[in-house]
Amino acid sequence: MIVVTGATGRLGRHVIEGLLEKVEADQITVAVRDVGKAAGLADRGVHVRPADYNDPASLTGAFDGSDRLLLISGNDVAHVVQQHSAAIDAAKQVGVGLLVYTSVLHADTATRRTAIPHRLTEPIIRESGLPFTLLRNSLYTDTFAPQMKQAAASGVFLSSAGDARLATATRADFAAAAVTVLTGEGHAGQVYELSGDVAWGFADLVAELSRATGREIVLRPVSGSEHRDLIIAGGLPPVFADFYVDLYRAAATGELSETNGELRRLIGRPSTPLAVSVASTFPLS
Ligand SMILES: NC(=O)c1ccc[n+]([C@@H]2O[C@H](COP(=O)([O-])OP(=O)(O)OC[C@H]3O[C@@H](n4cnc5c(N)ncnc54)[C@H](OP(=O)(O)O)[C@@H]3O)[C@@H](O)[C@H]2O)c1
Repeated sequence: MIVVTGATGRLGRHVIEGLLEKVEADQITVAVRDVGKAAGLADRGVHVRPADYNDPASLTGAFDGSDRLLLISGNDVAHVVQQHSAAIDAAKQVGVGLLVYTSVLHADTATRRTAIPHRLTEPIIRESGLPFTLLRNSLYTDTFAPQMKQAAASGVFLSSAGDARLATATRADFAAAAVTVLTGEGHAGQVYELSGDVAWGFADLVAELSRATGREIVLRPVSGSEHRDLIIAGGLPPVFADFYVDLYRAAATGELSETNGELRRLIGRPSTPLAVSVASTFPLS
């Protein structure tokens, strides 16, 4: 049995669709906090079990009988390490055969703030004694969708990342890697640093954005503090502005530029090009 947490999230949905192409539905269990959101999967023959990271008993119940468990990292920043710890403990209690975890690229050395929960979770996994695989996903290309939408409206794309290059990929690409690991052999003990095939710069993003929207968008370099103020003035909440400015700062260090081909090797095809991702954010009507 393959069990997947976060299966009703954006990454998880791609994982389940990929799994359904490779294994029978009754070999898949989704462990979700809102079983109503998974009703469509239940209709297709997937097992649906309630599982809340804040409720340890629900986790052991949901993971029972799991040969392979995909723990998709949670999004409740304040509590997420404790939640992951509870899930790992539950996996250990029921004797999961392989624990697969969605981490971030070079979680042990990355300087961006969003890497911290992963840097804290990975040792808990290692110390659990369970066979594990770490999927260290770089950045989802559509992380920039809100800023692209702002730029499409204003005609200006702001960047405080200098000449940064980013080897991003789509959720569907990273999900395909998870499916490979969950359905294949020889992945226990592996730490996969997964990134897109091409490291693009913000000038490339803006060129694609102009093409997709049919409007000339200008790239405007700004300082970090100016960037934060302008993102907020553009209508995004301060918490998002802080996230983006930290991301641009980290990108400027080069920590998201790695193109090592591991994602391509795992999924057996190229990662989704930037142009395709941008065009899908602005589909022609
Ligand atoms: N590499 C990157 O660029 C990048 C970017 C963003 C996020 N991430 C990480 O990757 C993860 C997956 O990405 P995503 O786009 O699929 O995020 P997402 O759409 O926010 O999905 C998060 C999933 O976690 C579930 N969840 C949250 N709290 C839970 C709880 N207490 N108990 C059980 N499940 C809980 C959510 O359940 P519901 O479906 O019920 O809401 C959802 O299914 C994120 O959570 C984050 O850690 C990585």
